[in-house]
Amino acid sequence: LPSAIYSDRRNSAGIEFGDRDSLAKLVRDMDKNKAAVDAVPLMPGLKADGDKKPVMSPSDPDQQVGTIIWAEASAVQPAFDVAKKGFAEWSRRPVEERALALEKAADLMEEHHARLMRLLSDEAGKTLDDGLAEIREAVDFCRYYAIQARKMFAGPMAMPGPTGEDDSYRWRGRGVFTCISPWNFPLAIFMGQITAALVSGNAVIAKPAPQTPLIAFEAIKLLHQAGVPENALLFLPGGPELGAAITEHPDLGGVAFTGSTATARAINRTLAAKDGPITPLIAETGGLNAMIVDATALPEQVADDVVMSAFRSAGQRCSALRILYVQQDIADRMIDMIEGAAMELNMADPSKPDTDMGPVIDKKQWQMLADHVADMKQNQKLRYAGKAPEKGTFFAPHIVELDKPGSLTKEVFGPILHIVRYKAGELDKVCDQISATGYGLTLGIHSRISGTAERVVRRMDTGNIYVNRNMIGAVVGTQPFGGSGLSGTGFKAGGPAYLLRFALEQVVSVNT
Ligand code: SER
Repeated sequence: LPSAIYSDRRNSAGIEFGDRDSLAKLVRDMDKNKAAVDAVPLMPGLKADGDKKPVMSPSDPDQQVGTIIWAEASAVQPAFDVAKKGFAEWSRRPVEERALALEKAADLMEEHHARLMRLLSDEAGKTLDDGLAEIREAVDFCRYYAIQARKMFAGPMAMPGPTGEDDSYRWRGRGVFTCISPWNFPLAIFMGQITAALVSGNAVIAKPAPQTPLIAFEAIKLLHQAGVPENALLFLPGGPELGAAITEHPDLGGVAFTGSTATARAINRTLAAKDGPITPLIAETGGLNAMIVDATALPEQVADDVVMSAFRSAGQRCSALRILYVQQDIADRMIDMIEGAAMELNMADPSKPDTDMGPVIDKKQWQMLADHVADMKQNQKLRYAGKAPEKGTFFAPHIVELDKPGSLTKEVFGPILHIVRYKAGELDKVCDQISATGYGLTLGIHSRISGTAERVVRRMDTGNIYVNRNMIGAVVGTQPFGGSGLSGTGFKAGGPAYLLRFALEQVVSVNT
């Protein structure tokens, strides 16, 4: 079977950026892939004849990346009619067929990486490093879920039972799932949600983030090309009204959502109030992620890891570091080093190889960050404000020292690092302050005292904890990703239990 190729899990190899020839080839290939994308809703029977709206680049407001025709809320009922038929056909296919489609999609993404990277850079402002990492993650999701599905959904599992009775246990798809994905990982999270739902035997209505419909459109086309039937995977780009119409639909079998805690709550309320079966929500939301650095930590490594965790991807990762707790004894030196390292970051056109940071996604996010800095300037100590290019929605790294941890209670999604000092002997108190925020996505610990990390881990419910390293870039199958509390429903993408959340259990007992 071709599936045997993947029986040993491998992560996507990517491209060696240290090799000048590979990098130069990638840049050339990306240049050849500048053609505009004209995206439309994809659903059998739907004529996409609305207004073509321009999609502009966040790094250059004069650069049009393509156009999009939004789906209207009136498309939702026909979409469910199509997808229910799609579900009936797709869910009956052998799991091997569904898994092979994911693996084919992974191969296609690798084959078309230059085109995808072009779009990730132009539409989402991703640097080359981030764009490549994102494609690798999307590829890894496909291959990992294909392997998991074969293991879990291969067929009925015999259960022990009395003589004269055959008892078996199996999994099946839940029906029509909707996947509502964020703009910060418009390919990886989008593909991760969709492929998990599909391979578990569901049909999918995919609603990408309104900021990044073009890359999502390309991804859907690759999945169709890989063998996912068009009636089992529908693409409905649109705004909150469309999202509400989908989540209110009585025939909805499940929701996979990544985005803000407030939106997850709104979806939960809608699902609770809607007609039809009780519909589950799989949500990955925000974080008020902290890193604890004690006086024994290696300063150079801390500076590197802090800058990477707080500012890479312009701080637009759910995993990004927001509050650094640093022990008083080393705080001044540590903060100086972090500021020095932040100063070295090059903010520029994200498609250039020497760019470290691209823009934030849009003017609204930019304004939210600017307002936050203005507020912090009044009440807290602004330690560092970098300089950003004027064109485009670039927001430079900022560092703010807080007088007390409670001065920041909500996630600020961008390149703003907050720092709090703590005294020796206050480690448990710091843990309790971090827990008190209610979020539980990522946590970093830097300490050379053996036992400190374990002591912190035992006290915390945080989903992903990183010790003596940076705290971003969870790898599929290695660091299954997801948090608890205000950070989500706790199911980990890229982990061994994720697919089960997309499936129904069934037991059959036969009197023989
Ligand atoms: N999965 C991403 C990371 O680990 C966050 O959204 O950085």
